[in-house]
Amino acid sequence: MNEARGEGLYLVLISIHGLIRGGHLELGRDPDTGGQVQYAVELTRALAADPAVDRVDLLTRQVCDARVHPDYAVPQEEIAEGAYIIRLPCGPRRYLRKELLWPHLDAFVDNALQHARRVGRTPDIIHSHYADSGYVGARLSQLMGIPLIHTGHSLGRVKQERLLASGMAENVIESQYNISQRIEAEEIALGNASLVVASTNQEIEEQYSQYENYHPKRMVVIPPGVDLSRFRPPRRSDPLPDYAAEIHRFLRYPRKPMILALSRADERKNIATLVRAFGENQQLHDLANLVIIAGNREDIDTLEKGSKEVLQALLLMIDRYDLYGRIAYPKHHKSTDVPELYRMAARVRGVFVNPALTEPFGLTLIEAAASGLPLVATEDGGPIDIIRHCNNGLLIDPLDADALGAALLNALADRERWRRWSKSGLSGVRRYYSWTAHVKRYLRELQRVKRRYHKPVIRSHKSRLPAVDRILVADIDNTLIGDREGLDLLLHRLREAEGRIGFGIATGRHLNSALKVMKEWNIPKPDLLITSVGSELHYGTGLVEDMGWQRHIDYLWKPEALREALDSLPGLKLQARINQRKFKISYNVNPDKMPVLQEIRAHLRRLDLHARLIYSHQAYLDVLPVRASKGMAVRYLAMRWGVPPECLLVAGDSGNDEEMLSGNTLGVVVGNYSPELEPLRGRPRIYFAKAGFARGIVEGMDHYGFLEAGSLFPKLHSGAGAGSLQTG
Ligand code: GLC
Ligand code: MG
Repeated sequence: MNEARGEGLYLVLISIHGLIRGGHLELGRDPDTGGQVQYAVELTRALAADPAVDRVDLLTRQVCDARVHPDYAVPQEEIAEGAYIIRLPCGPRRYLRKELLWPHLDAFVDNALQHARRVGRTPDIIHSHYADSGYVGARLSQLMGIPLIHTGHSLGRVKQERLLASGMAENVIESQYNISQRIEAEEIALGNASLVVASTNQEIEEQYSQYENYHPKRMVVIPPGVDLSRFRPPRRSDPLPDYAAEIHRFLRYPRKPMILALSRADERKNIATLVRAFGENQQLHDLANLVIIAGNREDIDTLEKGSKEVLQALLLMIDRYDLYGRIAYPKHHKSTDVPELYRMAARVRGVFVNPALTEPFGLTLIEAAASGLPLVATEDGGPIDIIRHCNNGLLIDPLDADALGAALLNALADRERWRRWSKSGLSGVRRYYSWTAHVKRYLRELQRVKRRYHKPVIRSHKSRLPAVDRILVADIDNTLIGDREGLDLLLHRLREAEGRIGFGIATGRHLNSALKVMKEWNIPKPDLLITSVGSELHYGTGLVEDMGWQRHIDYLWKPEALREALDSLPGLKLQARINQRKFKISYNVNPDKMPVLQEIRAHLRRLDLHARLIYSHQAYLDVLPVRASKGMAVRYLAMRWGVPPECLLVAGDSGNDEEMLSGNTLGVVVGNYSPELEPLRGRPRIYFAKAGFARGIVEGMDHYGFLEAGSLFPKLHSGAGAGSLQTG
């Protein structure tokens, strides 16, 4: 794989769902493959084209599924010089809609770390797109010690509100869209992001403001660019596009000015009011043709309910107003026809109209303006900005059909002004909405973020591996200890493996208490010792403390403020002094009296306080820095040592073990586990042992064949991951 070792920036973009490839995007094929996919691909190319940038990787999900094109299974695709789409496994191989990806995101995190190691360089920044990637980006930024930029694209709280208003029941919304998981991921992304990139001011003020982690100081408006090589005004020398025939067969006088509308067949796009405006205005439908491009269809009857109703209403209205010969509504178009359509409209001095009920952004308006078309659009977020910047049209009230008709007529009437609008749109787009302009602004912001952010603390050490090719990491209480004979059996099996297997411990106890109990139980000194619920890390027999880890987790850690914010809550009582550590505040809790975790989290966020809350045994609440936990410590180690997570077997029994159990590591839950781990059941790579305590660990090791000689995962030795795994 290409090395990126120059002086320039190495940027990692993440956009997980949908179908992503370098060309022939299947936009609109399904709800997950739309504007965001296009945005991410174009941003990747545009960034890589800048001389300050060495390499850009766009990470997405690898899909191996006969129902989609084999392109989406290719692990790496170079889409321009220094620009790559990297496809990483994430859950099952088949294509999944985005609402189903949540349980697999931890695996994506681990695969992304492996990718960083293969490139051999820690990225300078991570930029996540949408909630799912936001969660992944936040985790990666914590693990690698690099800043996160986030773009929401659309927001769960806004959607939830809209669905509730439409009368959908809360539990239906939940089961269909997994909305609370999405919102939680968005909160995590917003809490961790050093910068949020929005497309409009309205998005910040009306949408992001609904979040607990609303920090407008960290938000900027940089509208997406438009591909000016695709969208350009018509030239005299352009031949008539093939698609013209498709439109012309509807129209009696195809040379009349064209009113062009382009959107999905969705009620919110308000096509009905447009047709009414056209149909009821005699002057308008004498002067111009109306062309409605509303998605693709084979048979209206087989469309989903919403689109079906929109199109049926359209056909009825055409008949009612007798618009035959004056309106075109083709069944099909390809994405390559779209630029041609705008140009066809511009050639006959037409106008582009977007009458959507609300329009947070409106990329089509920019594409139309880039093709030289004046605009008539809903007076809402996106259009307001666009028409202000481009000064090329009129804003309308989407509910007022008469006014819409009048505005369209007005826009077409004055030839001189039409030319001015057309020209002014072209220069406005170049100035405000080109990718070059976007990237310039973006890189300026990025440098600011980097300056503010401390230096990465992890370097990719490929050579610091001890002579082991796999590691057992076990919790102490109720996992290693509890059954003396089981423990002896485990230690015996480990000794038999003769040093091929590393041994690690991850405990909630502080160092001295861990050492004491280990002595009582005759547990040998481990190769690594994670204590205080992951907030302290020690290596080898010398118990050398990892200061890099301390620096790494210090991020956003404000223990005094946290204690002050938490001490007043009911049901929480501070644990003994010795359990309070530099990076850990621990409470004994009364589960009946304490507020639910989500409320505690919201309470902290409102104060702009950030912490990881870990609840165990219905008795303990640990408050840690956002970057600390047993799971995070284990992954940090895996990365530092270059041991793939698949070669780590982790064993635990309770809530503070949960995170290290999920993801790509081989998880073992011992038989005597505590109920908060129940949700892990059925997840891939989590084995629930029948036996309790250390016997459960042995059972789990046998289940995975962990002690067998030879390579545990042969493919890691031959394929792309080979560089990271050495058995020297
Ligand atoms: C250990 C620690 C305690 C912590 C608990 C749960 O018992 O001593 O401080 O709250 O584990 O993680
Ligand atoms: Mg335990």
